[in-house]
Amino acid sequence: MRKITVTIPASTTNIGCGFDCLGLALSLYNTVEVEKIKGDEVIVEIEGEGRKLIPTNEENIIFPALKMVFDRVGEKLKGLRIKEVNRIPLEKGLGSSAATRLGGIVAASCLLKANLDTREILKMAVSLEGHPDNVAASLLGGFVAVTFCETDPVWVKLPVPETLRVVIVIPDKKILTRRARRVLPEKISFSDAVFNLSRLAILVPSLSQGIWENLALATQDKLHQPYRTSLLPEMEDVFEAALDAGAKGVFLSGAGSGVAAFSFEDKAEKIGRTMQKVFLSRGTKANYLILCVDKKGCRVDEKKH
Ligand code: HSE
Repeated sequence: MRKITVTIPASTTNIGCGFDCLGLALSLYNTVEVEKIKGDEVIVEIEGEGRKLIPTNEENIIFPALKMVFDRVGEKLKGLRIKEVNRIPLEKGLGSSAATRLGGIVAASCLLKANLDTREILKMAVSLEGHPDNVAASLLGGFVAVTFCETDPVWVKLPVPETLRVVIVIPDKKILTRRARRVLPEKISFSDAVFNLSRLAILVPSLSQGIWENLALATQDKLHQPYRTSLLPEMEDVFEAALDAGAKGVFLSGAGSGVAAFSFEDKAEKIGRTMQKVFLSRGTKANYLILCVDKKGCRVDEKKH
């Protein structure tokens, strides 16, 4: 019997101005183990985050991900044991659903020897996730810019200096991405579009080349964060406190509720504690993580037993 284990990094996306097109893979990992078993049953076990909340039946989002690959090779989805070990907090803007979907697609591709390439995996995962930024960062690792040309993904993986730390403060407040997208306007003004474009042009090379003094400006945004303060009223105060504590840049992680700050190792604890305190002072419990950028993206380990 073969057991496939896929390790998938968390991600932080948008990075302020790069709504739906920028992502960073982070050193916090979920694993998905898949092995064939006798009979028709598909058994799902969950460990860690969401152990008591995530369904273990076909409502689990890993099912459509696995099924896409099984359908592709003309096999029925049956006789499987799946174990999800979740370390990425749920609904905190750290790409937990993208990680589960990628885990399912990559594991099934290996198990069935479907040989899906990066492009196909990305397309499949995005078709389930609805936006490409988390999926691309977690699949490819590092700092990723991604878009779609009709149905084809186009991406660039950029270098990031080793010294960068990403401090993530995680409030005790869940925000469903679906809900966070509903608060966004259908139209924005020309001046707001220019505001974001001009920051994006500075952000990409500055983050990639470590021109740290540009990041406070370059992570600013007028496309999504101002609208999402209705879901996270502490956001502005947390941003201000993080910058005062020495953060190089600060932004809502994905659709939230997590907030991410760029820092070096020496200031990271202080920034984490400071952001946590702001949430606490507003009556919201919070913890924080100090993470590095994951460079490798999704990886697979295969064992025969
Ligand atoms: N770019 C997406 C959004 C990320 O902001 O809605 C969701 O994690």
